Amino acid sequence: MDEVVQTPEQEDDDDDLWSKRAHLHVSDDFLPAGLAERLRGSFDERFADPKQGGPERFAWDYWHVPDQHNLLRTPAKAYFSEEDYRELEDALLAYGQDKLGCSRMTPAWLSCYVDGCYQNFHADNPHGPWAFVLSLTRSADRFEGGATTIMKPSVLEYWRSYDSSKGCEFGDVFDTVAPQFNRLTVFDPRIPHGVSRVRGTQDPREGRLVLHGWYADPTPFFDGALDEDTVRRRERKREREKFRRDHHCCFCFLTTFLCSFQIRRWSWVGARGAVRVPGEDRRGVAADAPRHWDAVHQDQGS
Ligand SMILES: [Fe+2]
Repeated sequence: MDEVVQTPEQEDDDDDLWSKRAHLHVSDDFLPAGLAERLRGSFDERFADPKQGGPERFAWDYWHVPDQHNLLRTPAKAYFSEEDYRELEDALLAYGQDKLGCSRMTPAWLSCYVDGCYQNFHADNPHGPWAFVLSLTRSADRFEGGATTIMKPSVLEYWRSYDSSKGCEFGDVFDTVAPQFNRLTVFDPRIPHGVSRVRGTQDPREGRLVLHGWYADPTPFFDGALDEDTVRRRERKREREKFRRDHHCCFCFLTTFLCSFQIRRWSWVGARGAVRVPGEDRRGVAADAPRHWDAVHQDQGS
């Protein structure tokens, strides 16, 4: 798996511009090769003979929203075998947990783009914090377009990052990711994104074929096991903290009592030492000595 574009390390080094944070991740050779081939093979098999009309060919929805969406799509779970879909989900969830802290995802869609298909710019605000696109496109050289196109976040903060010495062209405004076979693209779907119009083929086997969906909000999850020493160390620490919590009031009372006792003791000793009358021993003076410092000073005429 090959991770490109921005990394968390870059994110840490950058200033406070929100647009400098990692919003796009691209991983090549994402799925195990065998699984990627099987998924692709399932699709090819159904379109191998255009003259055949089996019921599996009628799974597709032609999604057309004027000037916004124009593509073929179908739920991936019903399209692929149960085993292949489970392996696909496992791989996507493992990535989500490891890289994004997301342990859940929506059911995946399978979409096919032939000549004239596209998605105009939009944002998937209620869907989840991360969108994914996993390409099963075999022959991206058979058509033009079909790139996942994401607006650069710097455009959303245009004036904060404005540089009058530089020009501004398409590549300065958009990131584009070609639908290379077995490439996973993950991005922040709140940022306007789309798919550039496909031109050149009307054969579904030569078009843009992608799996896509969204990761759900990050939630805590547990993975792996702790070794015995670590468990014992943490258990002892937990017991110490619990003991401190449970006896917090006792400690406070004892500490207050001891401090108070010490202060009184020091005050008494100080009073004894402060009043000295020549010719009398300390015990005799102490018995009659005033305990207030002002009275002591007055008595001494200071
Ligand atoms: Fe979208």
